[in-house]
Amino acid sequence: MGTKDLVNEVLSLKRERNAVILAHNYMDYDIQVVADFIGDSYDLALRAMETRAEVIVFAGVRFMAEQAKALNYDRIVLAPDLNAGCTIADALDVDTLRRVKEEYPNAPVVLYVNSNADVKALADYIVTSSTAVKVIKKLSSDVVIFGPDSNLADYVAHLTGKRIIKVPPNGKCIVHGSYTVGLVKETRARYPRARVMIHPEAPLEVLGLADFVGSTNQMIEYARNSGYDEFVVGTEIGMLNALRLKVPNKTFYPITTEPYARCPFMAMVTLEKVRRSLRDLVHRIEIPRSTAEAIRDAFERTRRLLE
Ligand code: 13P
Ligand code: SF4
Repeated sequence: MGTKDLVNEVLSLKRERNAVILAHNYMDYDIQVVADFIGDSYDLALRAMETRAEVIVFAGVRFMAEQAKALNYDRIVLAPDLNAGCTIADALDVDTLRRVKEEYPNAPVVLYVNSNADVKALADYIVTSSTAVKVIKKLSSDVVIFGPDSNLADYVAHLTGKRIIKVPPNGKCIVHGSYTVGLVKETRARYPRARVMIHPEAPLEVLGLADFVGSTNQMIEYARNSGYDEFVVGTEIGMLNALRLKVPNKTFYPITTEPYARCPFMAMVTLEKVRRSLRDLVHRIEIPRSTAEAIRDAFERTRRLLE
C-alpha cells in the first residue's frame, strides 16, 4: 500500500473511532500530516487534557502517552509501540527517588516530564523543557531535588542559582547528551549565516555556544519570529519535519547528519503502527488510578505556579 492510501486509511479510521492523533515534533513527516496536534511535551499534555475525543493515539514515546492517560483518565490512550522508551525516563526508579527524598526531606521534588509514571507520581511539581526554569525560579526553597535529566539540571542550576540535587546523578538523553562543543563549532563554520538553536537536554558547555536554547515548540516560535532566515537545529533530527511544515519560508540545517541525531525510540513510531493502533485499539496505556491522580495533582500544582 502506498503512503497516500495509508494516510487515507488512517484519516478514515480516525473518524470511525472518534480519535485524535497527538504527535510530537520529532515524528516522521507522514505522521505529522495526519496528526490533529503537533507539539512539544507541554503543549501535547495540555491538548491531551482538553480533548473530548474517545480515543487518543499518542505518536511519541511512552512517557508522553502515560502523561496523557494521567491527565485524561477516562479516555482510551493508545501507544503505537510500547517499546518506545526514553533513556532519561529509564534512568530513575522509585527506590532511588525515595532515598534522595529521605536525605533532603524539606526540598521539593521537581521531576522532568520525561519520567515513568510510577516515579512521576512521587513528584511535587512536573516540568518540561519549556517550563523547568520558570517553575524552579518561583519555588521558595533554595534547595530542589530535580531529575532525571542531569544536563537540564545543570541548565536550571545555572539560570536560577539554586542548589539542585540531581536524581540520579547522571541521567542523559541518548541524542542530546552526545552533542559536543566541537560539533557546534564545526556546524557554525559550515553555516556561518545561521542562528544555532539547541535543546536544554544538551550539556551546559554546548548550550553556552547557542544563539537560542529552548523546547521544540520554543524553537519553532524563535525561528518564526526572529529576523533571521537560516537556522541550525540542535535537537533530535525529526524536528526538521516540524520546522519545515510550520515555518516553510525559512531554511533549517541539521546539527549533524550522523544517525545518532535520530532518537531510536521516536523512530519506532511509524504510520503503519498508528494505523494498527486505530484499527485494533492497541496498545492501551493502563496506569493505576491513584498514580494518575498523583500525576495530575502535581501537574495542576505546577500549572498554577506558572499562571
Ligand atoms: P520537548 O518538550 O522540548 O519537545 O522535548 C521532548 C523531548 O523528549 C526532547 O528530547
Ligand atoms: Fe528521550 Fe532523548 Fe529520545 Fe527525547 S530524544 S525521547 S529525551 S531519548
